[in-house]
Amino acid sequence: VEADGTKVFDLTMQSGQKEFTAGKKTRTWGFNGDHLGPTLRAQRGDKVKVRIRNTLGEASTVHWHGMHLPAKMDGGPHQMVASGATWSPRWTVDQPAASLWYHPHPHGRTEKHVQRGLAGMFLLDDDASNRLALPREYGINDLPVMVQDVTFDGAELDFDRGFLRDTGFLGERTMVNGTLNPYRTVSDELVRLRLLNASTARIYDFGFSDDRSFTMVATDGGLLEKPLRQDRVKLSPGERAEIVVRMKPGERTELRSFPHGGYGSAWEKRLAGGDDSLSVLQLRAANTLRPSPALPSELATLEVPDGSDSVRERYFGLTTPGINGREMKMDRVDLTVTRGTAETWVVRNEHGTPHNFHVHDVQFRVLEVNGKEPPPQLRGAKDTVYVAPNTTVKLAMRFDGPADPNSPYMYHCHLLYHEDLGMMGQFVVV
Ligand code: C2O
Ligand code: CU
Ligand code: CU
Repeated sequence: VEADGTKVFDLTMQSGQKEFTAGKKTRTWGFNGDHLGPTLRAQRGDKVKVRIRNTLGEASTVHWHGMHLPAKMDGGPHQMVASGATWSPRWTVDQPAASLWYHPHPHGRTEKHVQRGLAGMFLLDDDASNRLALPREYGINDLPVMVQDVTFDGAELDFDRGFLRDTGFLGERTMVNGTLNPYRTVSDELVRLRLLNASTARIYDFGFSDDRSFTMVATDGGLLEKPLRQDRVKLSPGERAEIVVRMKPGERTELRSFPHGGYGSAWEKRLAGGDDSLSVLQLRAANTLRPSPALPSELATLEVPDGSDSVRERYFGLTTPGINGREMKMDRVDLTVTRGTAETWVVRNEHGTPHNFHVHDVQFRVLEVNGKEPPPQLRGAKDTVYVAPNTTVKLAMRFDGPADPNSPYMYHCHLLYHEDLGMMGQFVVV
């Protein structure tokens, strides 16, 4: 902590190695360690500063996914940190409690950098959420669940056969928080899982092996208005969901990803991993469980606009590899928005490959999916939304950060192979 109360975090980007399976060393990258990064945590109203040191052999960046902050601090492709250099962004946290994350964003190299292990969670709290009866003991009954798919060739994490690479890399198995075959013993009746799809391309449809239902309490940008009963939650790369699951003494259940639909054709589905069934995390309940208070019936008030005060509508057509037929150019700003105004963005996946859509700096409300009310799991603050083949989503967002005509924010497909190919654009707030 600095004299003015600023919370300071140190992150060193470093290379290392890890034995994912006994006796086999794999080259990895991490923050403050061999692989992945620490969970950072701050409270609404906090001033934060992160001192980033890049000890890798190449330049990279650190982007705060989901964070509302000045464009210069965003860690996008314009805030490169050279090998050997340091970068110290600072901002004031001004958004609701949420499970955010951080990862590199060097243009054309993001997929590799994330795959090698540069990713971590950034949790935000606020006064209202601190008072809710939700499981909140970090690592005890409130667990980060960062899901990534991997295939090892023995030595490298970014192993890729490069064959039929339409959506990007699809690993053969998953790891949670960097661990293969993960299990967790829990000793509370209610356990909160902060699910983060930190994979580069894979879409998961999470649920439990015994098909039990669970309660979804938060989307990307924070708590839902009310708890939502679900038995599946689909997350595309970059998306988060917080779920609360009820356990019985001594039982075991497994969080899995199930085959799911929403693809253009059976062929596309197969190619994009839609037929895959994957084990994610086993939960093992202790023989006696601490009783948990009942979940609250109201959670939060959404702060995302509802579209009624949008000053303009814009169209974004997703076609490989660009957006509206144009590929990302570092020196071209694609659009300018006015500070303090809300806009409606219509995003259409114009072909058969799955995509999603992520906007920096803001949280948005999904107004419509194909002209209809969005499914309940999308009725919260979002910064990334799945856009299935031949699907249109309508999003409302407000740009209320500081104006800066010289520093663009990004919007892009978060299937990182597509992002790297140029399915990304830039906007400035003036
Ligand atoms: Cu999670 Cu522009 O990224
Ligand atoms: Cu982002
Ligand atoms: Cu895409």
